[in-house]
Amino acid sequence: MFITFEGPDGSGKTTQIRLLAGWLRTQGWVVVTTREPGGTRIGNGIRSLLFDIDHTEMTPRTETLLFNAARAQIVHEVIRPALQTGQIVLCDRFADSTLAYQGYGYGQDRAELGRLIGYATGGLTPDLTLYLDVHPEVGLARKQAGAGQEWNRLDAQTVAFHRAVEAGYRELIAAQPERWRVVDGEQPEEAVHQAIVAVVTGRLPVQAKERR
Ligand code: TYD
Repeated sequence: MFITFEGPDGSGKTTQIRLLAGWLRTQGWVVVTTREPGGTRIGNGIRSLLFDIDHTEMTPRTETLLFNAARAQIVHEVIRPALQTGQIVLCDRFADSTLAYQGYGYGQDRAELGRLIGYATGGLTPDLTLYLDVHPEVGLARKQAGAGQEWNRLDAQTVAFHRAVEAGYRELIAAQPERWRVVDGEQPEEAVHQAIVAVVTGRLPVQAKERR
């Protein structure tokens, strides 16, 4: 089962993935956690290129291609092999981030992005996508306050950009309501975790349990 986490920067995805992975393991599942961009040697190299605060000359198209190059690698190297052996994959961001940030945020053509994503992923789509709903301002403030948090080139965008990204997510959710679940990410950490557990419990594949 392939579960992705989406939401504005600082929405708590990383913490919630860690908590969910821990809970799933106590239930006997084999879980792989990973993140985009990154999660592979090549992906981490691309991540450094993308987020270098000095790379101000990077064009939106270059950025899009780099995100999708990292995605092609992680799908091939990590996600598909894990899914093929019945593991649960939890991924911090996936293709929806490209549609939300590069599409709605930077205004790139979403049909073109969709084709590029299809090429990068070979058509792999998540079984479930959890959206951690946090106002963009709250997320950015959390990120700025968080000790040890990376502050990257995209975080340095304007509040208007982050609002456009959020509005984009709302459209993506409305277009595929069966794949998405929205969780209030402004609740205390444990309450968010419980809400996520409730959603995931209802979606776990019954037959695959025999393989755990
Ligand atoms: P990251 O440091 O991983 O933090 P977080 O996910 O907690 O915000 O930053 C990832 C950044 O990359 C984030 O600003 C969203 C952006 N991004 C895109 O613009 N397009 C993409 O396809 C992906 C995967 C991420």
